[in-house]
Amino acid sequence: MRATHQRLYVNVDHVATLRQARRAREPDPVAAAVLCESCGADGITAHLREDRRHIQDEDIHLLVRNVRTFLNLEMALTSEMLEFAERVRPHQVTLVPESREEVTTEGGLNVTREPEQLAEGLARLKRAGIRSSLFIDPDAGAVRLSRELGADAVELHTGRYANADGNGMEIAALRECSRLGAELGLAVHAGHGLTITNVASVAEIAEIEELNIGHSIVSRAVFVGLSAAVREMRAAMNAARRLY
Ligand code: PXP
Repeated sequence: MRATHQRLYVNVDHVATLRQARRAREPDPVAAAVLCESCGADGITAHLREDRRHIQDEDIHLLVRNVRTFLNLEMALTSEMLEFAERVRPHQVTLVPESREEVTTEGGLNVTREPEQLAEGLARLKRAGIRSSLFIDPDAGAVRLSRELGADAVELHTGRYANADGNGMEIAALRECSRLGAELGLAVHAGHGLTITNVASVAEIAEIEELNIGHSIVSRAVFVGLSAAVREMRAAMNAARRLY
């Protein structure tokens, strides 16, 4: 499979984290999203968490109105969040597991635990015209079940790869699950813990259409500015896919 352009969706949650540290008006994640788009982001991702620790409801309303590319709303599968998504209609929803105690999304969804609920949630998103993605660990069974449940896409959790510091087994699992997902007709996305130093091996995987990257871009922005941080990531992804 020939590598083609891979979409970079920038997650702006941690711009809001900084704002919420002071309950102030800045930095504004919506202004950040617009800037990211002008620097080559193909889409914007934001996670509306149950505890509203960073992104707020109003941010999503404003993002829906102001994002010119695509908005990917990350959310837990709860009736509150499903109703919210049906009302605001982002382009894409990525369903993620959520627990209040975690610092960040720690693992993929356990798709075997409540398959009926997931299938119903995915069907509701489809009826609302929203593309759906399930955030799962790179596990073949989870990929197959995601397809059976009716997801349009899977987002493979790259956290174990990112934490393993070049462990070959972790990248092999991502490669195999990407191939399987594409064979089954799923769009394949990936993300979590990716940085300009570790992104290459994931960006090289031809079947992965989209990367969702947040923390490392916002962290890097503190030193080089958001525009440069987005451009650096874009360049690292293009270099890995030999697209210049
Ligand atoms: N993808 C999903 C589903 C996530 O929950 C997150 C973290 O919010 C990311 C990607 C981005 O991870 P990071 O902030 O480590 O780049």
